Amino acid sequence: MIETISLRDGNTIPQIGLGVLRIDDEGVVPVVESALEVGYRHIDGAAGYNNEAGVGRALASTGFNNGELRKQLWLTTKLRDSEQGYDSALKAFERQLKLLQVEYVDMYMIHWPTPFDWRSDETWKAFVRLREEGRIRTLGVCNFLPEHLDKLHEQTGEYPTVNQIELHPTWQQRNVVEYCKSHDIAVEAYSPMARGADLKAGDGLIESIAQKHGVSEAQVILRWHIENGTIIIPKSVHAERQRQNIDLFGFSLTEEEHHAIDALDGPQRAGHDPLTFTYA
Ligand SMILES: NC(=O)c1ccc[n+]([C@@H]2O[C@H](COP(=O)([O-])OP(=O)(O)OC[C@H]3O[C@@H](n4cnc5c(N)ncnc54)[C@H](OP(=O)(O)O)[C@@H]3O)[C@@H](O)[C@H]2O)c1
Repeated sequence: MIETISLRDGNTIPQIGLGVLRIDDEGVVPVVESALEVGYRHIDGAAGYNNEAGVGRALASTGFNNGELRKQLWLTTKLRDSEQGYDSALKAFERQLKLLQVEYVDMYMIHWPTPFDWRSDETWKAFVRLREEGRIRTLGVCNFLPEHLDKLHEQTGEYPTVNQIELHPTWQQRNVVEYCKSHDIAVEAYSPMARGADLKAGDGLIESIAQKHGVSEAQVILRWHIENGTIIIPKSVHAERQRQNIDLFGFSLTEEEHHAIDALDGPQRAGHDPLTFTYA
């Protein structure tokens, strides 16, 4: 059983989802099918991952693209940076919905703040229209720093419901997390294991905690996120690892163990800097 998080807009999101970055369009089909089979009910995709058509084929082949099964699934996708803006966002959304073979998405996100070419205010108006039309349930952003969240709020009167940011033991972005908590914005951690690098963090610390609990190193890190109340979207192409990554509710870290992982925070970004990067 995967626990859920209640969002400010009244929706409920499964706390764990499957990330599908760096899986090609053909390869993503069996990966999504196996995730649904082992119990995932939340998929995290993006136009920029170039595999929405494959995700759509997997949803259609399993029946999760409509009817009762669709209602059980949380489907997230993201707008390409180059398609920010009012008309372009509306157009992109139509194309993405067709590729995904669904009638609505649960969450649509601005993928990057693109601070050097800021159009998030115009983009947001398109998002709001799509929400009013019932085609998006929850509006989110990714990689927004407090200054971007402030700007969006000043221009639109609204904060996003979810902010998806890089977050793992060696890159905890506490200032962003604190800001989000104080504005009732749910935090979603991407690269929750630093793409695998944090499995070896702390000079064997994660490994020794894993041995004590009889779980894997991945489960220790993912459990730490769960205990922090963070939504996580670990990626794995292997069914066995997918299974492990949702099997997090049968053990707890001790207070000392949890604090020891807190203490691993450092300047170990695995991805890109939101101030200088764009997927375009
Ligand atoms: N919004 C954004 O800008 C943004 C940026 C980056 C990522 N994301 C999202 O976040 C998701 C996850 O991030 P990520 O893929 O960068 O990193 P991640 O989930 O931290 O790590 C994935 C890596 O860990 C391995 N792994 C997974 N489960 C494991 C286990 N139980 N034991 C050992 N190794 C395991 C995977 O290998 P195998 O696949 O071979 O198992 C893969 O190499 C992405 O897929 C994407 O949806 C969003």
